Amino acid sequence: MTADAHVPVLLHQAVDALAIDARPDGTFVDATFGRGGHSRLILERLGPAGRLIAIDRDPDAVASARTLDDMRVSPVHARFSELQSTLAALRAGEADGVLFDLGVSSPQLDDPRRGFGFRSDGPLDMRMDTSRGASAAEWLQRAQEAEIREVISNYGEERFAKQIAKAIVAARRSGPLRRTGELAAVVAAAVRTREPGQNPATRTFQALRIHVNQELEELSLALPQAVAALRRSGRLAVISFHSLEDRIVKTFMRGQARPSLPERLPVRARDLPPPRLRIVGSPQRPGPEEIAANPRARSAVLRVAEKVA
Ligand SMILES: C[S@@+](CC[C@H](N)C(=O)[O-])C[C@H]1O[C@@H](n2cnc3c(N)ncnc32)[C@H](O)[C@@H]1O
Repeated sequence: MTADAHVPVLLHQAVDALAIDARPDGTFVDATFGRGGHSRLILERLGPAGRLIAIDRDPDAVASARTLDDMRVSPVHARFSELQSTLAALRAGEADGVLFDLGVSSPQLDDPRRGFGFRSDGPLDMRMDTSRGASAAEWLQRAQEAEIREVISNYGEERFAKQIAKAIVAARRSGPLRRTGELAAVVAAAVRTREPGQNPATRTFQALRIHVNQELEELSLALPQAVAALRRSGRLAVISFHSLEDRIVKTFMRGQARPSLPERLPVRARDLPPPRLRIVGSPQRPGPEEIAANPRARSAVLRVAEKVA
């Protein structure tokens, strides 16, 4: 595997979920192109008149999509929270399937220059879209201690968030934290107990990455747009990698499948809005073989729904 490669997770399950065989000349959206693992399999199944819209916020991922050299592909540099305007600008019409494979790709994680990892030293960046927004270093330099604690606690589910935030603020008094190695060392010194097999900086790095890229807000904004974009019987497939993301996906799909109004409002069942989605099957997780071959897959969950109205 080259340094720029990404092993797709739940590849066949996710692409099967899009039911391309039923609409081989349809329009499909890969909202997280990465290095195109899922997109390539979509293209194998797509007919000559089919269309694939390949979105990513990372310019390197979009550059990779442009190398596909396939008339059916439209690569787009955008956030998936801009799904509706992106599809409108492309005059894409209704979509037959939308796939989200959330989180970061291996090329992002493994390239020290992107600043996502604590294993090798690099600039403390962590932006998926390197063309805009504040880096992790910039945010850590100006954030209040309480904000840092909240981010690390909420998005990293880190019980030492308070100590880590305090240590970061103490460290930056002697100069900005600019490198991943510096941050990892500050965190390691602040965390008293170790989780077996886990670097003490794992949770803090995850939290900062989610915050810097507004990952949960992006997801909450994108899911309703994906449903709006789908035609009736179109499919929504979402792969998530941690419980915070999965909770948003699960709650959204259930809410669309069984609309409800706040309790104690005098509303009759027949006056409720009709369901917009039907949940397809149970959540799917990678088997032991996939996890053994690709440890990044271990926390993945695929949820699928079909538009019904
Ligand atoms: C797990 S990787 C996708 C890998 C891809 N399925 C493959 O097989 O190569 C996630 C990708 O989604 C992109 N991404 C994450 N959040 C995004 C967002 N809000 N808008 C657009 N792209 C996003 C990341 O830049 C990354 O390239």
